[in-house]
Amino acid sequence: MRIAIVFEKDLNAEEKKMVESVKNAIEKKFECKLVPFDENFMEKITNYDFVFNLSNKGGKETKQIHVPALLDLLNIPYSSSNAYSHSLCLDKITTKIMMKYHNIPTPSFEYFEIGELPESMDDKVYIVKPPREGSARGITRDSVVNNIEDLREQVLKIHKEFNQPALVEEFIDGTEVSVGLIGNGEEIEVLPILEIDFSVLPEGLERFYSYNVKHNYGEQTNYICPARIPNDIKEKLEFYAKKLFKVLSLRDYARMDVRIRNNEIYFLEVNSMPQLVPIYSDITKMAEAAGMSYDDLILKILEVSMKRYKGEDL
Ligand SMILES: Nc1ncnc2c1ncn2[C@@H]1O[C@H](COP(=O)(O)OP(=O)(O)O)[C@@H](O)[C@H]1O
Ligand SMILES: [Mg+2]
Repeated sequence: MRIAIVFEKDLNAEEKKMVESVKNAIEKKFECKLVPFDENFMEKITNYDFVFNLSNKGGKETKQIHVPALLDLLNIPYSSSNAYSHSLCLDKITTKIMMKYHNIPTPSFEYFEIGELPESMDDKVYIVKPPREGSARGITRDSVVNNIEDLREQVLKIHKEFNQPALVEEFIDGTEVSVGLIGNGEEIEVLPILEIDFSVLPEGLERFYSYNVKHNYGEQTNYICPARIPNDIKEKLEFYAKKLFKVLSLRDYARMDVRIRNNEIYFLEVNSMPQLVPIYSDITKMAEAAGMSYDDLILKILEVSMKRYKGEDL
């Protein structure tokens, strides 16, 4: 069995660490090689029996769908979700429409296409986000608005800066948690829930993952795992997270961002290919709380991915 670890050509320091760490973990059990997603990908990849996929920004707007789509075309088995499932998660508006239809709680929302602007607003607080970004891109302290002038300004800003619709969502002032899942079918496991405590950040900073908080205050943010939430809320979260995993046809592993206010759960978004940077990434923190080392986590993901193809000739 020859395994290829597929990754992007242009990696930052964290991503480099992720790729090398995944290789170290898989090497414990299998022969594996690093294969960048570049011009010669289609040719090179046919030499392998299985792909551990870490490619998440292959195209400008369509990011992580390319490698899975090509591998399906070539009939090469791989870890993580397929192109269809990634597409449902790439756009937060689409994901929220799926949540609404399936009665999975999510903050109330509206969205405005380029050229459209909100005309009125009630007395709730809202957050304005670009629906097709990630890593808190486009989210600043000014994204949270409570009057029509600011709302219109932020919607216009998203249109101009990102050339995409603007998602306007009720702002949930509450506890932030992240839910990680591994597995498939009847064997989906929810990892210990991670609480992200912003209350310890310097005064004056916003209490949510703005771009500034996420990228400059990561080490000062307090991560608590398992989260300090009542057992019945935890069980509800696990129920909805598993349901959402199935509804979106996710595979192998995923991570969901959630807020909890007055014991009410609100799913914000789904990361169909969460990063696996040792220590830094949420999912590795959850694994640690479950008593799994980094290598255990990677080998577990590989195991559930391969199991999915059981019965087929690998
Ligand atoms: N409706 C909301 N209510 C409260 N905070 C929110 C809401 N939406 C987003 N946030 C904050 O912004 C962060 C980033 O938003 P998210 O929807 O997860 O996008 P991204 O893809 O950039 O991670 C969240 O982790 C949360 O802290
Ligand atoms: Mg998020």
